[in-house]
Amino acid sequence: MAAKATKEMVLVIGACGQLGSELTLELRYLYGGANVVAADIAPPKQAELLESGPFEQADVLDMKALRHLASKYTFTHIYHLAAILSAAGEKNPEFTWRLNMDGLLHVLDLAREQKTARVFWPSSIAVFGPHTPRHHTPQYTPMDPNTVYGISKQAGELWCAYYFEKYGLDVRSLRYPGLISYKAPPGGGTTDYAVDIYHKALKEQKYACYLREDTFLPMLYMPDAIIAALDLVQAPASQVTVRSAYNLGGMSLAPKDIAAAIHEHIPAFEISYQPDYRQQIADSWPQSIDDSSARHDWGWKPAYDLPAMTADMLQNLKTNLSANAPLPL
Ligand code: SER
Repeated sequence: MAAKATKEMVLVIGACGQLGSELTLELRYLYGGANVVAADIAPPKQAELLESGPFEQADVLDMKALRHLASKYTFTHIYHLAAILSAAGEKNPEFTWRLNMDGLLHVLDLAREQKTARVFWPSSIAVFGPHTPRHHTPQYTPMDPNTVYGISKQAGELWCAYYFEKYGLDVRSLRYPGLISYKAPPGGGTTDYAVDIYHKALKEQKYACYLREDTFLPMLYMPDAIIAALDLVQAPASQVTVRSAYNLGGMSLAPKDIAAAIHEHIPAFEISYQPDYRQQIADSWPQSIDDSSARHDWGWKPAYDLPAMTADMLQNLKTNLSANAPLPL
């Protein structure tokens, strides 16, 4: 996507996380570094984030701080990415609910007050549950999430649709599958093994997986996840027919598949399986997703398959290792 001159002023909340740290840089490339404010509860570890544009330390639970930021910059777009994920959320359900829910409502209220043109907020496959069809999961289907994270994402989707219907707030959302990336570590998700396995393969040539070998889950490589967010936010409002959150498929992968793909590059690599409490969460989620609404409405089409992603992950992680950069995991 080519850089363009715009009047957009963008706020990214949760800019230092797995998605935020890459999406913020892409937004700065698109809109200019000075026009994209990275905000997070703690300063970034990645120098690139600090050097390429403004950073503001802010807690999404602090509405006064958010209003202060909004009056300082006057944002046209807000990307709200801060959340506690599925596995970590089960260890602290009360705070997870508060951060995920109050954080979203703060952002929606702020956007309404400030007449922000567009808001992006990621939902997740965690909105689905044991009674959801697990193959080719439809856009509209039974949803009975059984993690606090999933419950907060499902409620959040309904709030997004509510703010759109009642207040005309142009908020857009995607149900991300597991995200795989090499730059910043994920934070406490059930799908995190799919990142960790690449780090361990390079460092130790072995990995002990906390899910069974045949646990298929939908996954997406980060470059595709970023393009999805940008394309959805840039789509004309008339093309956005889903105002809760779009299903987004990618690859349907099990640990044994990723292990086999790594094996092609690292023949000595060995995997073992020690399922823990995350198995139950994974077993309640879809194995593959029907994302035809996203494909039809705004042209969603992922580029990466497992071999292409594996080659890219290993090459980039190897470069990090040989440059002696500390590994994020
Ligand atoms: N990757 C997330 C998790 O595992 C799902 O959205 O919690």
